[in-house]
Amino acid sequence: MDTLAEVARVVNTCTDCQLHAGRTNAVPGEGPDAAELLFIGEGPGFHEDRQGRPFVGPAGNFLEDLLQSIGMTRDQVYIANMVKCRPPDNRDPVPSEIAACSKYLDRQIELLDPLLIVTLGRFSTGRFIPGQSISRLRGRLRRVNGRHIFPIMHPAAGLRRQEMRAAIEEDFAKIPGLLDVLRIQSEPASESAQIREASASFEPSPAEQSRSLWDVLAPAEPGIAGSRIEESPADEVDQPNDPPPGQQRLF
Ligand code: URA
Ligand code: SF4
Repeated sequence: MDTLAEVARVVNTCTDCQLHAGRTNAVPGEGPDAAELLFIGEGPGFHEDRQGRPFVGPAGNFLEDLLQSIGMTRDQVYIANMVKCRPPDNRDPVPSEIAACSKYLDRQIELLDPLLIVTLGRFSTGRFIPGQSISRLRGRLRRVNGRHIFPIMHPAAGLRRQEMRAAIEEDFAKIPGLLDVLRIQSEPASESAQIREASASFEPSPAEQSRSLWDVLAPAEPGIAGSRIEESPADEVDQPNDPPPGQQRLF
């Protein structure tokens, strides 16, 4: 599978787990090959199964509203799911189904190489950060095996409960700022050098000079960051719980 289109072709005829038996259409995922932002949901529902496209039912409408709220449209982002075929009666996918299907999502992530992965709900969040509750993880950026993961609650939960909707909206609003920071971080060294040169005129203190851009934007509090790393299988925690006194948390 050398392209995203090829992944989709293979998915469309896959029979590697029992979910193939009940599907109308497989739902490989969709979006531009160069999308910076990847959303990962759980699995197709009724409408997705009918149309062969991800997030086209009520949860999809909410996702589109959320994208609009940050000035984006769905054709700018890649949207995928943990399992590509609809579980019967919208039951949760079981571990053997997730395991059988993970090769497709793994390849999609490799080929897309997105700047930011937004995991929607506990299933896709658990793929990167297992064993922790989504309510603890939501709204914080983490780096896991070199990928930047931003968990939020599933849009379908926001349709059921007003307080969840508010939490999802609050987390979504952080996405443009995260993308800005990640874009700067991923710039080639020559451009970073230019930024450093331009900012040299501000004459930062030696302590400031030794900190990375990330630290400046999201200052770490060693105690909290350290303890969170210990209890998290994620290889790095990028954001502290609270900024140190006198420092502002930007996102
Ligand atoms: N919910 C999901 O998790 N994925 C979809 O594609 C649609 C609804
Ligand atoms: Fe294949 Fe995934 Fe569909 Fe199972 S859910 S049949 S592994 S594409």
